[in-house]
Amino acid sequence: MSSIKKNIAVGIAADHGGFELKMQLTVLLHEAGYIITDFGAHELFTEDDYPDYILPMAKAVAKAEIQRGIAICGSGVGACVAANKVYGIRAALITDSFSAHQGVEDDNMNVICLGGRVTGSSLAWELVQIFLKAEFKGEERFKRRLDKIMVFEMKKPKV
Ligand code: RB5
Repeated sequence: MSSIKKNIAVGIAADHGGFELKMQLTVLLHEAGYIITDFGAHELFTEDDYPDYILPMAKAVAKAEIQRGIAICGSGVGACVAANKVYGIRAALITDSFSAHQGVEDDNMNVICLGGRVTGSSLAWELVQIFLKAEFKGEERFKRRLDKIMVFEMKKPKV
């Protein structure tokens, strides 16, 4: 895969279910020239909880300390649920290449979620590269849709 953007700051975080995949992706990202912030887990602890790692990374994306995030747990579901609780985060569980770029191009996805027990490391690496290379198209209809979500998010209804 060519012409990956390397001038963006990337964060990565995983619980025990995504620990091995996080280690593999971190090596590949370093080799590819990315500057990575690793939000943990820094060691395998089978009783740890994904919000402890995913939420700090998602907050860093929301505060623009980093531009993109990679959130991993066993299925990718918990990581996605947690990341999307942070204001300004647009996270999605990705298992296919089309969604890896279209999610950014149309929906301005800023966190990719992966299942360490679901997606193999080779496919995960391809998905991450596609995600990092993609850019939001910024067309009026895409902004309009995201604006509607932002308005909803700001009002914070209880149900
Ligand atoms: C941990 O066992 C597992 O539940 C977690 O990694 C994740 O899959 C949750 O969605």
